[in-house]
Amino acid sequence: MAEDAMFSEEEQVLMQAAKVAGDERYKDSPLRDEFMYLANQYKRLLRQVRRVISLSDKQQSSLSFELELAFESFIRTLVTTIDAKHKFTAGHSARVTEYVLFLGNKMGFSFEDMEVLKYAGLLHDIGKIGIPDAVLTKNGPFSPEERLIMNGHPALTGRILSGIRLPRNLREVPHMAECHHEKMDGTGYPYGLKGEDIPFFSRILAVGDVFDALTSRRDYPKYIDGKTLSAEPMSLYMAFAILAKDQNIHFDPTVVSVVLNHRTEFETMYQYLHANQAGWWLES
Ligand SMILES: [Fe+2]
Ligand SMILES: [Fe+2]
Repeated sequence: MAEDAMFSEEEQVLMQAAKVAGDERYKDSPLRDEFMYLANQYKRLLRQVRRVISLSDKQQSSLSFELELAFESFIRTLVTTIDAKHKFTAGHSARVTEYVLFLGNKMGFSFEDMEVLKYAGLLHDIGKIGIPDAVLTKNGPFSPEERLIMNGHPALTGRILSGIRLPRNLREVPHMAECHHEKMDGTGYPYGLKGEDIPFFSRILAVGDVFDALTSRRDYPKYIDGKTLSAEPMSLYMAFAILAKDQNIHFDPTVVSVVLNHRTEFETMYQYLHANQAGWWLES
Protein backbone atom coordinates (compact mmCIF):
# COMPACT_ATOMS: atom_id res chain seq x y z
CA MET A 1 0.00 0.00 0.00
CA ALA A 2 1.32 3.49 -0.86
CA GLU A 3 2.30 5.48 2.22
CA ASP A 4 -0.27 8.25 1.51
CA ALA A 5 -3.10 5.72 1.34
CA MET A 6 -1.82 4.02 4.49
CA PHE A 7 -2.28 7.22 6.54
CA SER A 8 -5.36 8.72 4.88
CA GLU A 9 -7.56 8.19 7.97
CA GLU A 10 -5.00 9.81 10.25
CA GLU A 11 -4.70 12.75 7.86
CA GLN A 12 -8.48 13.18 7.98
CA VAL A 13 -8.40 13.21 11.79
CA LEU A 14 -5.79 16.00 11.66
CA MET A 15 -7.86 18.01 9.18
CA GLN A 16 -10.86 17.59 11.44
CA ALA A 17 -8.81 18.73 14.44
CA ALA A 18 -7.61 21.84 12.54
CA LYS A 19 -11.22 22.66 11.68
CA VAL A 20 -12.31 22.34 15.32
CA ALA A 21 -9.34 24.41 16.53
CA GLY A 22 -10.22 27.22 14.12
CA ASP A 23 -13.92 27.18 14.89
CA GLU A 24 -15.00 30.52 16.42
CA ARG A 25 -17.50 28.75 18.68
CA TYR A 26 -14.72 27.12 20.68
CA LYS A 27 -12.50 30.23 20.84
CA ASP A 28 -13.02 30.76 24.55
CA SER A 29 -13.39 27.12 25.54
CA PRO A 30 -11.19 26.15 28.55
CA LEU A 31 -10.45 22.88 26.76
CA ARG A 32 -9.11 24.58 23.62
CA ASP A 33 -5.44 24.60 24.72
CA GLU A 34 -5.63 21.01 25.88
CA PHE A 35 -7.23 20.02 22.58
CA MET A 36 -4.50 21.80 20.61
CA TYR A 37 -1.84 20.10 22.70
CA LEU A 38 -3.31 16.66 22.04
CA ALA A 39 -3.77 17.36 18.31
CA ASN A 40 -0.13 18.48 18.02
CA GLN A 41 1.06 15.38 19.87
CA TYR A 42 -0.95 13.25 17.44
CA LYS A 43 0.61 15.08 14.51
CA ARG A 44 4.12 14.56 15.89
CA LEU A 45 3.48 10.88 16.51
CA LEU A 46 2.25 10.41 12.96
CA ARG A 47 5.38 12.12 11.61
CA GLN A 48 7.58 9.78 13.67
CA VAL A 49 5.75 6.66 12.51
CA ARG A 50 6.22 7.78 8.91
CA ARG A 51 9.94 8.34 9.46
CA VAL A 52 10.42 4.91 11.06
CA ILE A 53 8.62 3.24 8.18
CA SER A 54 10.64 5.02 5.50
CA LEU A 55 13.88 4.29 7.37
CA SER A 56 13.11 0.61 7.55
CA ASP A 57 12.25 0.62 3.81
CA LYS A 58 15.68 2.07 3.07
CA GLN A 59 17.39 -0.39 5.39
CA GLN A 60 15.50 -3.29 3.83
CA SER A 61 16.41 -2.28 0.30
CA SER A 62 20.04 -1.80 1.22
CA LEU A 63 20.07 -5.22 2.91
CA SER A 64 18.55 -6.91 -0.12
CA PHE A 65 21.07 -5.10 -2.36
CA GLU A 66 23.89 -6.42 -0.16
CA LEU A 67 22.46 -9.94 -0.38
CA GLU A 68 22.20 -9.73 -4.17
CA LEU A 69 25.83 -8.60 -4.41
CA ALA A 70 26.95 -11.40 -2.10
CA PHE A 71 24.96 -13.97 -4.11
CA GLU A 72 26.38 -12.79 -7.43
CA SER A 73 29.95 -12.66 -6.21
CA PHE A 74 29.60 -16.16 -4.72
CA ILE A 75 28.28 -17.52 -8.04
CA ARG A 76 30.99 -15.73 -10.04
CA THR A 77 33.73 -17.04 -7.79
CA LEU A 78 32.34 -20.56 -8.00
CA VAL A 79 32.16 -20.62 -11.80
CA THR A 80 35.55 -18.93 -12.14
CA THR A 81 37.01 -21.70 -10.01
CA ILE A 82 35.43 -24.41 -12.15
CA ASP A 83 36.53 -22.77 -15.43
CA ALA A 84 40.03 -22.29 -14.02
CA LYS A 85 40.45 -26.06 -13.55
CA HIS A 86 41.62 -25.98 -17.11
CA LYS A 87 43.81 -23.03 -18.09
CA PHE A 88 42.26 -22.74 -21.54
CA THR A 89 38.71 -22.52 -20.29
CA ALA A 90 39.54 -19.93 -17.63
CA GLY A 91 37.18 -17.01 -17.91
CA HIS A 92 34.88 -18.88 -20.33
CA SER A 93 31.63 -18.55 -18.33
CA ALA A 94 32.27 -14.87 -17.57
CA ARG A 95 32.89 -14.13 -21.26
CA VAL A 96 29.83 -16.12 -22.36
CA THR A 97 27.81 -14.12 -19.83
CA GLU A 98 29.06 -10.84 -21.29
CA TYR A 99 28.20 -11.98 -24.83
CA VAL A 100 24.68 -13.10 -23.93
CA LEU A 101 24.01 -9.95 -21.92
CA PHE A 102 25.12 -7.91 -24.92
CA LEU A 103 22.63 -9.84 -27.08
CA GLY A 104 19.84 -9.50 -24.51
CA ASN A 105 20.51 -5.78 -24.33
CA LYS A 106 20.34 -5.41 -28.11
CA MET A 107 17.05 -7.35 -28.09
CA GLY A 108 15.60 -4.92 -25.55
CA PHE A 109 15.31 -7.35 -22.63
CA SER A 110 13.88 -6.07 -19.37
CA PHE A 111 16.07 -5.76 -16.26
CA GLU A 112 14.42 -8.92 -14.87
CA ASP A 113 15.16 -10.94 -18.03
CA MET A 114 18.75 -9.68 -18.06
CA GLU A 115 19.17 -11.00 -14.52
CA VAL A 116 17.90 -14.43 -15.60
CA LEU A 117 20.17 -14.40 -18.65
CA LYS A 118 23.14 -13.39 -16.50
CA TYR A 119 22.77 -16.33 -14.13
CA ALA A 120 22.00 -18.78 -16.95
CA GLY A 121 25.24 -17.59 -18.59
CA LEU A 122 27.31 -17.80 -15.44
CA LEU A 123 26.01 -21.22 -14.44
CA HIS A 124 25.64 -22.97 -17.81
CA ASP A 125 28.76 -25.14 -17.39
CA ILE A 126 28.53 -25.72 -13.65
CA GLY A 127 27.88 -29.41 -14.41
CA LYS A 128 31.57 -29.65 -15.37
CA ILE A 129 32.21 -29.91 -11.65
CA GLY A 130 30.97 -33.50 -11.90
CA ILE A 131 33.21 -34.45 -14.85
CA PRO A 132 36.33 -36.39 -13.82
CA ASP A 133 39.53 -34.34 -14.11
CA ALA A 134 41.05 -36.99 -16.39
CA VAL A 135 38.42 -36.01 -18.98
CA LEU A 136 37.88 -32.35 -18.12
CA THR A 137 41.56 -31.41 -18.15
CA LYS A 138 42.65 -33.81 -20.87
CA ASN A 139 45.15 -32.45 -23.38
CA GLY A 140 44.06 -33.55 -26.80
CA PRO A 141 40.92 -34.91 -28.47
CA PHE A 142 38.44 -37.11 -26.60
CA SER A 143 37.86 -40.78 -27.25
CA PRO A 144 34.17 -41.64 -27.96
CA GLU A 145 33.75 -42.71 -24.30
CA GLU A 146 35.32 -39.54 -23.01
CA ARG A 147 33.17 -37.46 -25.37
CA LEU A 148 30.11 -39.18 -23.92
CA ILE A 149 31.21 -38.33 -20.38
CA MET A 150 31.98 -34.73 -21.35
CA ASN A 151 28.61 -34.39 -23.08
CA GLY A 152 26.99 -35.30 -19.80
CA HIS A 153 27.86 -31.89 -18.31
CA PRO A 154 24.69 -29.98 -19.35
CA ALA A 155 22.45 -32.65 -17.78
CA LEU A 156 24.60 -32.39 -14.65
CA THR A 157 24.19 -28.61 -14.75
CA GLY A 158 20.42 -29.12 -14.73
CA ARG A 159 20.57 -31.64 -11.90
CA ILE A 160 22.85 -29.51 -9.72
CA LEU A 161 20.89 -26.31 -10.24
CA SER A 162 17.53 -28.01 -9.69
CA GLY A 163 18.81 -29.08 -6.28
CA ILE A 164 19.62 -25.51 -5.26
CA ARG A 165 16.95 -23.23 -3.88
CA LEU A 166 17.52 -20.37 -6.29
CA PRO A 167 15.67 -17.07 -5.81
CA ARG A 168 12.15 -17.24 -7.29
CA ASN A 169 13.03 -14.95 -10.24
CA LEU A 170 15.70 -17.46 -11.32
CA ARG A 171 13.55 -20.59 -11.24
CA GLU A 172 13.82 -21.12 -15.03
CA VAL A 173 17.63 -20.94 -14.95
CA PRO A 174 18.27 -24.69 -14.39
CA HIS A 175 16.36 -25.71 -17.53
CA MET A 176 17.74 -22.82 -19.61
CA ALA A 177 21.29 -23.67 -18.56
CA GLU A 178 20.99 -27.40 -19.16
CA CYS A 179 19.78 -26.74 -22.74
CA HIS A 180 22.82 -24.75 -23.90
CA HIS A 181 24.03 -27.61 -26.13
CA GLU A 182 20.67 -28.22 -27.80
CA LYS A 183 20.60 -27.49 -31.55
CA MET A 184 17.86 -26.09 -33.74
CA ASP A 185 17.76 -29.26 -35.89
CA GLY A 186 17.26 -31.50 -32.84
CA THR A 187 20.72 -33.12 -32.91
CA GLY A 188 21.93 -31.48 -29.70
CA TYR A 189 21.92 -32.81 -26.15
CA PRO A 190 20.83 -33.71 -23.50
CA TYR A 191 17.22 -33.82 -24.76
CA GLY A 192 17.51 -33.48 -28.54
CA LEU A 193 15.02 -30.61 -28.46
CA LYS A 194 14.18 -28.94 -31.75
CA GLY A 195 13.62 -25.30 -32.76
CA GLU A 196 11.26 -23.40 -30.49
CA ASP A 197 11.06 -26.30 -28.05
CA ILE A 198 14.49 -25.09 -26.92
CA PRO A 199 14.05 -22.22 -24.44
CA PHE A 200 14.88 -18.94 -26.17
CA PHE A 201 17.46 -18.03 -23.52
CA SER A 202 19.23 -21.36 -24.17
CA ARG A 203 19.37 -20.49 -27.87
CA ILE A 204 21.10 -17.24 -26.91
CA LEU A 205 23.49 -19.16 -24.65
CA ALA A 206 24.33 -21.55 -27.52
CA VAL A 207 25.51 -18.63 -29.66
CA GLY A 208 27.57 -17.00 -26.89
CA ASP A 209 29.01 -20.35 -25.84
CA VAL A 210 30.17 -21.45 -29.30
CA PHE A 211 31.42 -17.98 -30.20
CA ASP A 212 33.68 -18.01 -27.14
CA ALA A 213 34.87 -21.58 -27.76
CA LEU A 214 35.81 -20.73 -31.36
CA THR A 215 37.53 -17.46 -30.57
CA SER A 216 39.50 -18.62 -27.52
CA ARG A 217 42.60 -20.72 -27.43
CA ARG A 218 41.96 -24.34 -26.53
CA ASP A 219 44.53 -27.07 -26.03
CA TYR A 220 42.91 -29.29 -28.64
CA PRO A 221 42.19 -28.51 -32.28
CA LYS A 222 38.83 -27.20 -33.39
CA TYR A 223 36.92 -29.56 -35.66
CA ILE A 224 34.77 -27.95 -38.29
CA ASP A 225 32.99 -29.88 -41.04
CA GLY A 226 35.22 -32.90 -40.50
CA LYS A 227 38.34 -30.75 -40.86
CA THR A 228 40.89 -30.46 -38.08
CA LEU A 229 41.87 -26.86 -37.48
CA SER A 230 44.36 -25.23 -35.16
CA ALA A 231 43.87 -24.93 -31.40
CA GLU A 232 44.58 -21.20 -31.73
CA PRO A 233 41.70 -18.71 -31.49
CA MET A 234 39.77 -18.57 -34.73
CA SER A 235 39.53 -15.22 -36.48
CA LEU A 236 36.33 -13.37 -35.70
CA TYR A 237 35.64 -13.28 -39.41
CA MET A 238 35.57 -17.11 -39.49
CA ALA A 239 33.58 -17.35 -36.26
CA PHE A 240 30.91 -15.01 -37.68
CA ALA A 241 30.86 -17.09 -40.87
CA ILE A 242 30.26 -20.29 -38.87
CA LEU A 243 27.40 -18.70 -36.93
CA ALA A 244 25.87 -17.58 -40.22
CA LYS A 245 26.34 -20.96 -41.90
CA ASP A 246 24.87 -22.92 -38.99
CA GLN A 247 21.71 -20.84 -38.63
CA ASN A 248 18.67 -23.11 -38.35
CA ILE A 249 20.99 -26.12 -38.00
CA HIS A 250 22.65 -25.28 -34.73
CA PHE A 251 21.69 -21.68 -34.01
CA ASP A 252 18.54 -19.60 -33.86
CA PRO A 253 18.70 -17.20 -36.84
CA THR A 254 17.12 -14.40 -34.77
CA VAL A 255 20.02 -14.52 -32.34
CA VAL A 256 22.65 -14.87 -35.05
CA SER A 257 21.26 -11.85 -36.87
CA VAL A 258 21.74 -9.75 -33.73
CA VAL A 259 25.40 -10.76 -33.64
CA LEU A 260 25.91 -10.12 -37.33
CA ASN A 261 24.18 -6.75 -37.16
CA HIS A 262 26.54 -5.66 -34.38
CA ARG A 263 29.78 -7.20 -35.57
CA THR A 264 31.95 -4.20 -34.75
CA GLU A 265 30.67 -3.92 -31.19
CA PHE A 266 31.07 -7.66 -30.76
CA GLU A 267 34.68 -7.38 -31.89
CA THR A 268 35.36 -4.54 -29.46
CA MET A 269 33.85 -6.57 -26.64
CA TYR A 270 35.91 -9.60 -27.64
CA GLN A 271 39.13 -7.54 -27.56
CA TYR A 272 38.22 -6.10 -24.19
CA LEU A 273 37.28 -9.45 -22.62
CA HIS A 274 40.45 -11.14 -23.77
CA ALA A 275 42.72 -8.21 -22.94
CA ASN A 276 41.31 -8.17 -19.42
CA GLN A 277 41.32 -11.95 -18.91
CA ALA A 278 37.57 -11.92 -18.25
CA GLY A 279 36.85 -12.79 -14.69
CA TRP A 280 34.26 -12.26 -12.04
CA TRP A 281 35.09 -8.56 -11.70
CA LEU A 282 33.62 -7.68 -15.09
CA GLU A 283 30.70 -5.32 -15.08
CA SER A 284 27.51 -6.78 -16.45
FE1 LIG B 1 28.87 -26.53 -22.10
FE1 LIG C 1 30.26 -23.38 -22.10
